[in-house]
Amino acid sequence: MANANVMDKIVSLAKRRGYVFQSSEIYGGLGSVWDYGPLGVELKRNLKERWWRSMIYERDDIEGVDAAILMHPKVWEASGHVAGFTDPLVDCKQCKNRFRADDPRIKGTPGEPDAQCPTCGTKGNLTAPRMFNLMFKTFMGPVEEQAAVVYLRPETAQGIYVNYLNVLQSSRQKVPFGIAQIGKAFRNEITPGNFTFRTREFEQMEMQFFVKPGDDERWFEEWRAARMQWHVDLGITAAKLRFHQHTADELAHYAKAAFDIEYEFPFGWHEFEGIHNRTDFDLGRHQQHSGKKLDYLDPATNERFVPYIIETSLGADRLALVALVDAYHEEEVEGEPRVVLRFHPAIAPIKAGVFPLVKKDGMPEVATRIAADLRREMPVFYDDGGSIGRRYRRQDEAGTPFGVTVDGQTLEDQTVTVRDRDTLQQTRVGVDKLRTFLRERLGW
Ligand code: GAP
Repeated sequence: MANANVMDKIVSLAKRRGYVFQSSEIYGGLGSVWDYGPLGVELKRNLKERWWRSMIYERDDIEGVDAAILMHPKVWEASGHVAGFTDPLVDCKQCKNRFRADDPRIKGTPGEPDAQCPTCGTKGNLTAPRMFNLMFKTFMGPVEEQAAVVYLRPETAQGIYVNYLNVLQSSRQKVPFGIAQIGKAFRNEITPGNFTFRTREFEQMEMQFFVKPGDDERWFEEWRAARMQWHVDLGITAAKLRFHQHTADELAHYAKAAFDIEYEFPFGWHEFEGIHNRTDFDLGRHQQHSGKKLDYLDPATNERFVPYIIETSLGADRLALVALVDAYHEEEVEGEPRVVLRFHPAIAPIKAGVFPLVKKDGMPEVATRIAADLRREMPVFYDDGGSIGRRYRRQDEAGTPFGVTVDGQTLEDQTVTVRDRDTLQQTRVGVDKLRTFLRERLGW
């Protein structure tokens, strides 16, 4: 499969099966903004819930928050985003397109006569680079001229830092401890693209772990290993995952060390999660800009210090794209081509398809009852349209891990067949044991 071709097929399947639609499509679409359809929203919710559970419920040293998207404008001065969250931008005076100055498609030096526009191909029309702030601005208050400029947050992390004291005091946690959050972030990216990979509105799942200075390197290593393992446990192909360590000139303004977790997409290796040692930069800056003390008094040693922060920052949309791309397989089954999404059952949008083998002899009634019973515990899809082979294929393409079929034997001995999406094996299971059978295989 040629790589560009695979991506086209995934984008088309995503639309056809209700994973991802272009935003405002009936109006021609809004650039690089996407909506999740019925199956996509389930996939993304399952990923977010799994992350939340691993951070908040399975540990006792991390608390959750849900901070507002709009924050005091000074937050972004303190964080360094007003001054530094910029990309170098060049304009083409001929075709009016905009590019990042480091776009590899640009030949020559922007601002010089030799520079060639990657879109219209003319020479000498690219402006010299100027810095472009990626934060979206809006106005708070009814009269635009007098209203305060506020920003749509470009990362969720700051909502955690400004609540650090509130959480510390209300939860009775002690350093080391963490705060986690899932929420929307916005960046006016100059060159978004590759489907949902880089968008202007996206969701982040971020966890900030507060540690004693000096313990930071140990915690950084611990989180780095834990986050990679989490993706492997999610069933992502291990050979398509790797770390990329930031070199000195790649490090963000706040970071002492950083590793990306990268996935091998059809369009190359790219980051989808970052683990950063942010030192005391964030709390130090907020302390300075707000005038509020944000240091920590260690009850064991009576020492005061501003905690260091180890951050794990994962894009929910990018993870959903990794899950979709990694699950996508084309293969031949019994001489027929099939497209299958091999999701880990825990994240599959629909857990089981329920089918009467034929639409007679009371089979639809029994299958409807089974579907209603399963629905109390998991999303299922009832389908009695077309041949059983075609119904299996439709669920394969949706990523449904199990197919439950009611046949002639069901009416005699109250057993159904359960077909496994990946092995294609069929197992006979008693109707009364079906829920337990599936639950044990869903990996919740
Ligand atoms: N708080 C640190 C931070 O935001 P980042 O590396 O800029 O770090 C972290 O972003 C993650 O957020 C990325 O690894 C990616 O998964 C996601 N992300 C960032 N920009 C994105 C965009 N424009 N579209 C989709 N996801 C994005």
